[in-house]
Amino acid sequence: MKKVLVSASLMCADMMNMGKSLAELEAVGTDYLHVDVMDGSFVPNFSLGTDFCRALKSNSKLPLDIHLMINDPLYKFDKFPLSEGDIVAVHYESCVDVHRILCAIREKGAKAFLAINPATPIEIIRECMPVLDGALVMTVNPGFAGQKIFPGAFDKVERTRKLLDTADHEIILEVDGNVSFANIPKLTAAGADMIVVGSSSLFSKEGTMAENMAKMQSLYM
Ligand code: DX5
Ligand code: ZN
Repeated sequence: MKKVLVSASLMCADMMNMGKSLAELEAVGTDYLHVDVMDGSFVPNFSLGTDFCRALKSNSKLPLDIHLMINDPLYKFDKFPLSEGDIVAVHYESCVDVHRILCAIREKGAKAFLAINPATPIEIIRECMPVLDGALVMTVNPGFAGQKIFPGAFDKVERTRKLLDTADHEIILEVDGNVSFANIPKLTAAGADMIVVGSSSLFSKEGTMAENMAKMQSLYM
């Protein structure tokens, strides 16, 4: 079976029992805590921020996977508590100097991921590959949990995989948005090696977190 990194989307967790959820996430073998940061401008919604990340740092050993859906992230990303091994994903569509911020993230000791929206061509990634640790291919338009994957997502992930495999170093391919039990086998077969799991898999009401994680792990291709 393929090793797939699991990043749990905390905006889909039980906000009133986050401490309990964090302990469960560690117990079931989650790799990263996915933190969706929204500014109400880059996306039409608001969500998690710097204080929440600080609270995570003092209540969990898991590394953070910070997904910045904010405008002008260059002057804001360093407000987040970053440690070695954390990931910061910035959107190509959110700033004019994405190469500069990817370098700045790495200078802070974190892993630099480039996120692209469904309508953004993958060619964008090629130009940044020398300074990339990962590419985050959005499989929904960013801003809300509980959406349906866009039809061209599987083909886009496959093409992105082929592109990343031409790099001179390993670049992780992360997918985010409606990574459901039905979509996980197709996305991992297409080349995704990191999955953001939310309302339609790990936090699905269909089962406990342990049952959902076991079901997900049985689906990796
Ligand atoms: C959406 C966020 C996702 C979202 C995933 O903009 O980036 O991380 O929380 O939720 P589901 O899995 O329900 O699509
Ligand atoms: Zn996200």
